[in-house]
Amino acid sequence: MIVKNFFIHLSENQFLNKAAQNYGFKLGAHSVVAGTNIEEAIKSIKELNAQGISCTVDNLGEFVHDKAEALAAKKQILGVVDAIQKHKVDAHISLKPSQIGLDIDYDFCKDNITEIVERAAKYNIFINIDMENFARLQPSFDLMEELAKDYDNVGTVIQSYFLRAQDDIKKYSNFRLRIVKGAYKEPDTVAYQTKEEIDANFIKLIEYHLLHGKFTSIATHDHNVINHVKQFVVEHDISYDKFEFQMLYGFRKEMQVELAAQGYNFCTYIPFGTDWYGYFMRRLAERPQNLNLVVKQVFTK
Ligand code: FDA
Repeated sequence: MIVKNFFIHLSENQFLNKAAQNYGFKLGAHSVVAGTNIEEAIKSIKELNAQGISCTVDNLGEFVHDKAEALAAKKQILGVVDAIQKHKVDAHISLKPSQIGLDIDYDFCKDNITEIVERAAKYNIFINIDMENFARLQPSFDLMEELAKDYDNVGTVIQSYFLRAQDDIKKYSNFRLRIVKGAYKEPDTVAYQTKEEIDANFIKLIEYHLLHGKFTSIATHDHNVINHVKQFVVEHDISYDKFEFQMLYGFRKEMQVELAAQGYNFCTYIPFGTDWYGYFMRRLAERPQNLNLVVKQVFTK
């Protein structure tokens, strides 16, 4: 827990974030980040597509405090939408509302995301609103609900550590949802703190959405959960086109290919861009073993 909190704390450090951008694409991040530009990301997507794996693409960006930065991020994401269409790859978009201005002004963010969703709708590309910390949870759900009045290519994430997640999954069951454990540090007033509680809630949420909801993305590297889902769908006669497994780029690569080869829909989350620092620190928080990647990099330079 102390190690986890240490890395989450580092992920929130804006000075280090800037320094990392300037320092370049190092510290082992390249193992879990698919390059710094769209060309590199498209190359990774094509390689995964060739193995029967679809992708969701995240043009990394954090600590957006002014409108110019948010507009630049929107432009980049529109570029990713266009690149997916141009290269005819099997991919959709994952974006964070804070990246396109949620912390600055809700309506400004709504205009930005609407432009992205509208462009993507033309090409039949799905947009996933990634979930961030608790303060941004309800505004992000609000964005999705407002967008859903005009577009059907939008969905979001349910984080199992939140005490309110069971209510949210019922409320938003008519949306395509990605279900995860949750990556941020949250207080016990809003979130479960133990692995046992979070894992138990995760299973309940997955089962509920598989039985009652629209399409379910089960996003985890946890083989116990994956094995449980495999058995659950057989027992409840849930067809394979109702769900997919998702994992992050660079994690459990063999298992990703194996699940796709077994006939499950599989989607890899492809983060790319120069703003990789916060993403990488959160991955270290989840799995300090990833430090090996950093150590290897430092000694092979
Ligand atoms: P967890 O880290 O709890 O690991 C459980 C067990 O699985 C481990 O004990 C180990 O046995 C095994 N394991 C895990 N990783 C392994 C590895 N690399 N190699 C071997 N064994 C391994 N969060 C969020 O708050 N908002 C979001 O929008 C998203 N989006 C998202 C998308 C996708 C595609 C993924 C996979 C995850 C997210 N997350 C997220 C992150 C998520 O909330 C969570 O923090 C991480 O996925 C870590 O939890 P896991 O379920 O993977 O297992």
